[in-house]
Amino acid sequence: MQLKRFASVLLTLFNFSRGCLHDHVRTPHLRDVEDALSKRDVPALVKTAITNVRVFNGYTIGKPQTVIIDGGYITDCDEGIEKTIDGGNRILIPGLIDAHTHVVTVEGLENMTSYGVTTIFNMACSDIDLCKSLRSNPGLTSLFTTMLSALTPSGGNSNLNPVAPEQLLYPNTDPRSLVDYSFGNGSDYFKVVGAPDGPTQNQFNGIVNYTHSLGHFAVAHAPSVSAFTRAVSSGIDVVQHIPDDGVLCSSVVGSMKEYNLASTPTIEIFRRAYTIQPEILQFLRGNNSANATYQNVLSNVRHLHKAGVPILAGTDAVGSTLPVIYFPFGDSLHQELLNLVGIGMTPAEALRAATIVPATVHKLNDRGAIRPGLRADLVLLNSDPLVNISNTRDIAKVWVGGIEYANVAKPSGEA
Ligand SMILES: *[C@@H]1O[C@H](CO)[C@@H](O)[C@H](O)[C@H]1NC(C)=O
Ligand SMILES: *[C@@H]1O[C@H](CO)[C@@H](O)[C@H](O)[C@H]1NC(C)=O
Ligand SMILES: *[C@@H]1O[C@H](CO)[C@@H](O)[C@H](O)[C@H]1NC(C)=O
Ligand SMILES: *[C@@H]1O[C@H](CO)[C@@H](O)[C@H](O)[C@H]1NC(C)=O
Ligand SMILES: *[C@@H]1O[C@H](CO)[C@@H](O)[C@H](O)[C@H]1NC(C)=O
Ligand SMILES: *[C@@H]1O[C@H](CO)[C@@H](O)[C@H](O)[C@H]1NC(C)=O
Repeated sequence: MQLKRFASVLLTLFNFSRGCLHDHVRTPHLRDVEDALSKRDVPALVKTAITNVRVFNGYTIGKPQTVIIDGGYITDCDEGIEKTIDGGNRILIPGLIDAHTHVVTVEGLENMTSYGVTTIFNMACSDIDLCKSLRSNPGLTSLFTTMLSALTPSGGNSNLNPVAPEQLLYPNTDPRSLVDYSFGNGSDYFKVVGAPDGPTQNQFNGIVNYTHSLGHFAVAHAPSVSAFTRAVSSGIDVVQHIPDDGVLCSSVVGSMKEYNLASTPTIEIFRRAYTIQPEILQFLRGNNSANATYQNVLSNVRHLHKAGVPILAGTDAVGSTLPVIYFPFGDSLHQELLNLVGIGMTPAEALRAATIVPATVHKLNDRGAIRPGLRADLVLLNSDPLVNISNTRDIAKVWVGGIEYANVAKPSGEA
């Protein structure tokens, strides 16, 4: 059990081939999550006016105005206000979205919330009930999750495989059975784990076609040129990661644009692997790193962005779930915004990549912007993120579903 859960977190991160890390894994259990949730002290919803704030509208920052929160949503009705907060001429942005992460504990959610990351997409789950219990809790980041992934026997180390043998994708498996199982258990979207010898083009096509016929979207893990190309040919909605083993062919990039497929490149895991945490690289590539470079990562993302492919901010953060790799939740999303500006996005484009773009691509029409009728997921910043994207870390207050979060993260350098 312990091994299964551990592996599920790792698996989607890495095509790894070592098995020496099981010791000291912090294994979450459903009862731990329920326990942690029952101990939370959640303030009641009160109709709140935030006065004198300048709102980021997706492109620019407006003149000072009042934003009203009622019952978890933004409203333009100013009657019956119970509480007024002076925004002090500061800047209000929509709650941020991390489009690729691995959260398995309430503490992980708390860390996300404290950094103003109010929605996350969880990219692996081996305990359906545990993932469901993390999904939607008042005053905490909301989580959307995949459940069973389509994974071939060679697509991950069999010893560390979180998918039971009978649930793997074999050449004669009807992929619809995996898709049915996943959505039958309440998955929000379906994930295919692409690998050079992983799912074939036909399997990819069948999964994507069937998932779409059910009205859902699908994503693919694809950190290599071959897997990425196959994923794009299948018409999959979002491709996770970005190849570091070569440059994408222009026709692949062109297809993404033409069919409106999105990319969650997770530059941050590559940046860490190639600069500060080489142990991640060992997992990512094993010894097969002959042609893999960080330059390929950056060139590929730049190419997608220049071509107008929708790009989503995602990190692949695992927090402190694994003993040997600390990859912080929340803070890393702010770093991904910097990474996106680094490949040529404007700060406003980077902010959209973490707000309205992932909301739209993932079909969440209740968030991603600040306007009446949408969820009151809000981040109040002390300084202007359009002047310097690092200023998204300069957080004054966070609201999630209209509830103010008590312990916001201080900018790096402060206690
Ligand atoms: C949900 O998952 C359980 C195993 O946890 C499985 O037995 C069941 O068939 C799944 N439900 C559906 C509708 O696929
Ligand atoms: C796509 O799915 C539909 C409905 O499930 C099916 O009729 C069709 O044959 C499928 N096409 C391909 C290319 O798989
Ligand atoms: C990678 O290479 C090193 C040194 O040659 C070797 O000790 C190690 O076992 C190799 N790792 C894998 C996963 O093959
Ligand atoms: C690296 O690239 C060269 C030239 O394209 C190719 O022949 C070789 O197989 C590649 N090596 C790996 C490990 O992908
Ligand atoms: C949450 O953040 C704290 C403080 O940075 C850190 O010590 C802890 O390990 C984090 N928890 C998780 C689950 O990542
Ligand atoms: C942006 O802010 C960061 C953090 O305060 C600082 O290190 C960096 O130099 C600033 N960049 C510019 C271009 O001013």
